[in-house]
Amino acid sequence: MQDLHGKVLISRQRIAERVAQLGQQITKDYAGRELLVVGILKGASIFMCDLIRAIDLPLQIDFMAVSSYGASTVSSGAVRILKDLDQSCKGKDVLIVEDIVDTGLTLQYLTEALMARGVRSLEVCCLLDKPSRRKSTVAPLYIGFTIPDAFIVGYGLDYAEKYRNLPDICQLPTEG
Ligand code: IMP
Ligand code: MG
Repeated sequence: MQDLHGKVLISRQRIAERVAQLGQQITKDYAGRELLVVGILKGASIFMCDLIRAIDLPLQIDFMAVSSYGASTVSSGAVRILKDLDQSCKGKDVLIVEDIVDTGLTLQYLTEALMARGVRSLEVCCLLDKPSRRKSTVAPLYIGFTIPDAFIVGYGLDYAEKYRNLPDICQLPTEG
């Protein structure tokens, strides 16, 4: 196992149950429509793979990558598109899948950018919400878990690109 002595905040069983519920809710809400599910790399990759298999609708997937934290745990506030969509999102029902909404600055930038491209509708599904540090007004419609202000890793989330493969969501021990 990796040298992480953090505590498990959300177990793999709880994640699986919640992902199934989110998938059912999205399936209901978008009945009769066709979704373009946009995963935000790399953090949302594992959540995305599980979530789309819990959605019983015709859908397409695409990915975007944006810069946010670099190798630090402190938000730079700067957002840059590193990888854009492969296909046009014009006129489509778009669902952004994000790992965690912290300050919300990444999401605000992304939603504004996609809205400007003329999507038919745009909603956000995030695995984790850390509302205590919000610096924007964006509010995801679908939220897996609301968590306190702690730095967490696992199930796709990293610290300096490590720990993404932990099956549970864990709290990173504070240094010193
Ligand atoms: P925001 O722009 O401050 O909302 O930052 C969102 C991005 O920061 C997420 O997509 C994550 O990549 C990263 N992030 C924020 N909090 C955490 C955390 O606790 N663990 C790992 N990554 C985080
Ligand atoms: Mg991310």
